[in-house]
Amino acid sequence: MSKELMQKNIAKAQREIDEKKEIIKNGKMRQHYHFMPQTGWMNDPNGLIYYKGKYHFFFQCNPYYGFWDYMHWGHGVSDDMLHWEYLPLALAPSESYDDHIRGGCFSGSAIEHEGKLFLMYTGTTKEAQGFVQTQCIACSEDGIHFEKYEGNPVLTAPKGIAPEHFRDPKVWKHEDTFYMVCGGSCGQKGQALLYRSKDMFHWSFFNVMAESRGEWGYMWECTDFYPMGERYVLTFSPMGAGEHTAMYLVGDFDYETGKFHSWINGEIDWGFDYYAPQSFQAPDGRRIMVGWANEWEWMPLWKDWGPAYQEGWCGSFNFPLEVRMREDGTLQFLPIAELETLRENPRREDSFLVTETEKELAAGDGVSFELKMKIDLEHTDADRLELVLRGGEGKKTVCLFDFRKAEMSVDRNESDGWSRGVSRSVMYLKGKSELDVHILSDQSSLEIFTNQYQNNHSNNIFAGNEQNQLKIRTYGGTALIREYESYGLKDCFRRGENSHVNDKEDERNG
Ligand code: FRU
Repeated sequence: MSKELMQKNIAKAQREIDEKKEIIKNGKMRQHYHFMPQTGWMNDPNGLIYYKGKYHFFFQCNPYYGFWDYMHWGHGVSDDMLHWEYLPLALAPSESYDDHIRGGCFSGSAIEHEGKLFLMYTGTTKEAQGFVQTQCIACSEDGIHFEKYEGNPVLTAPKGIAPEHFRDPKVWKHEDTFYMVCGGSCGQKGQALLYRSKDMFHWSFFNVMAESRGEWGYMWECTDFYPMGERYVLTFSPMGAGEHTAMYLVGDFDYETGKFHSWINGEIDWGFDYYAPQSFQAPDGRRIMVGWANEWEWMPLWKDWGPAYQEGWCGSFNFPLEVRMREDGTLQFLPIAELETLRENPRREDSFLVTETEKELAAGDGVSFELKMKIDLEHTDADRLELVLRGGEGKKTVCLFDFRKAEMSVDRNESDGWSRGVSRSVMYLKGKSELDVHILSDQSSLEIFTNQYQNNHSNNIFAGNEQNQLKIRTYGGTALIREYESYGLKDCFRRGENSHVNDKEDERNG
């Protein structure tokens, strides 16, 4: 029974996508090189994996409207994580354990086993006691069409864990055993719960890997765990922890006892729009992490779901990042090198002096661009350096480096008449001779990476093509810029260039 109903629900949602996608793809806020849904709402990255020669990204989505509701799993494949072919939806709610009307098939992960692609996800349902979340499995032989396991759910919330807060399984295999880390809430404290299994279908609780003492919220969403060299990394998105949207812990892990001892913690991103990141290993060994470029905490404040929603879609992924570990155990998050293949129209300047008189900078068309530069701190006596991004027609987004306070901020109160807030972070600059800055600007997002990719701000802004000016100036002295490079970035979704994608889709649809 389960097979037919899910296929029916997928076909229905797919028709909805096909009807709207040609109109929605022309929306003014559509991104040029960030992954986004064809239609409707998107949130977390799910099931990221390199499988049978392609990158597969699945994602939480509501294909019907541009707001969060009744979750399906969308699916795209790519050779480079930049150009995407959309595949049919992978999962749709269809069973008693995953068809909660305000729920559906929640987040999870993917693993290859005996040549097949397994998805492990959270089913949400309503039982007498309320909203219940359990862990479920779906499997595919071709990496496109999935069937839910008839023995679902394979795992229910243990005693003490709130059944409405037990979700987002991330699975991996170590030697001959499968492991899963799952987010939970125990006595109003967020936790990362570790499970193990010999066959992926029967799981036993192993340990609590880490938990909030209140400072990191009441529930940890989208926990992830992986090795980096000799050490291990645990990441999570805490609910109810203010502006902490994605955190990491680094430490030692013992497979014998299931104990994770961490001594380093850090913020993955200081901006407003980085949430629920998931990682996977690329075939060349890189650890790639992708986040959802949005954030729940802001939503109750929203008057509506925003400018993208009005175009019939909402949400994109942050640009994929490569995770690296420094000697001291702290992490760096760098845009993947594939980005360079999108570069066009390069501009370079060895060095120039910035004064209190505003200077225009050139980078692509001022909308979709990449900019890299170094601020020579030894030859800078200014108090502050200001970058105006996406300026024009009375609008602007201001990135400010305050050298006295060692603070960086991104102010989007005048970005677009809709976005707001100032994201701030403090940088450790003592003894440093330069500060590196790397910016990725797309139609509706700005990602700013500084301080060795340890101080990153991802913020959505819904600015139009008229907001294409880029300016720089100082306050209270001058600043020396070195190694300025900028590039336009090619559009990965434009029809024509990408027409083979549509051809393939047509072929598949018969
Ligand atoms: C994180 C999250 C997950 C959940 C999913 C529902 O953004 O709340 O915990 O599985 O989104 O769409």
